[in-house]
Amino acid sequence: MSPTSRDGPGKPGGRLLCREPGGRIRLRGLMARDCALHTAHLLRLSPEDRRARFHSALGDRSVIAYSRGIDRDHAWIFGAFLSGTLRGVGELTPVTGTDEAELAISVEQPYQHVGIGKMLSLALILVARRVGIGKIRMSFVRDNHRMRALARDLGARTVATSGVLEGIVTVPPMADRRPRSPCAAR
Ligand SMILES: CC(C)(COP(=O)(O)OP(=O)(O)OC[C@H]1O[C@@H](n2cnc3c(N)ncnc32)[C@H](O)[C@@H]1OP(=O)(O)O)[C@@H](O)C(=O)NCCC(=O)NCCS
Repeated sequence: MSPTSRDGPGKPGGRLLCREPGGRIRLRGLMARDCALHTAHLLRLSPEDRRARFHSALGDRSVIAYSRGIDRDHAWIFGAFLSGTLRGVGELTPVTGTDEAELAISVEQPYQHVGIGKMLSLALILVARRVGIGKIRMSFVRDNHRMRALARDLGARTVATSGVLEGIVTVPPMADRRPRSPCAAR
């Protein structure tokens, strides 16, 4: 995927989806076999970004356990690769028994603010729409202005819940809205 072309698919509706971060970006779904790449990406996040991502200062062991513990049969995970290295991840985790899902995004610091977070979020919103998820929730600590701005950009309504803020995106239904399994969307 090359989302930086000025006239091509990288500029939907006249706006660049992703600014040039100095390399070719490839977006693809992450499978169980990509677990080590996913873990390494999360471990590379700066201490502030790790805290922002997990809402607390997790140690390396907890990050590794988190990455290994993801239920990859039920979550959709997209990765953004720059020059072959995973630099951004978007995770969409359905909430059992509801038509809702939780969205979490992480982009390594040198690659932030060029559109990767938005690209991953939009890709997962499209997945959500395709599989019949009606609401996407993204929670973030109050001082996470970047995520707040991204949530606003995605059209989220922001509400305050216990200690954190939650952005809620209502996903417009498709005409044919039958629930699909994660494998079917890949
Ligand atoms: C929040 C985060 C995912 C944003 O990713 P990103 O790739 O930098 O975001 P994008 O470049 O796609 O920017 C999307 C929008 O977010 C906002 N934004 C991103 N970085 C910003 C910054 N440094 N200052 C202000 N707004 C910012 C802007 O509204 C931007 O849209 P615009 O470029 O059209 O103005 C990234 O900063 C990150 O990984 N933070 C640490 C982890 C985290 O906080 N995750 C969220 C909780 S799960």
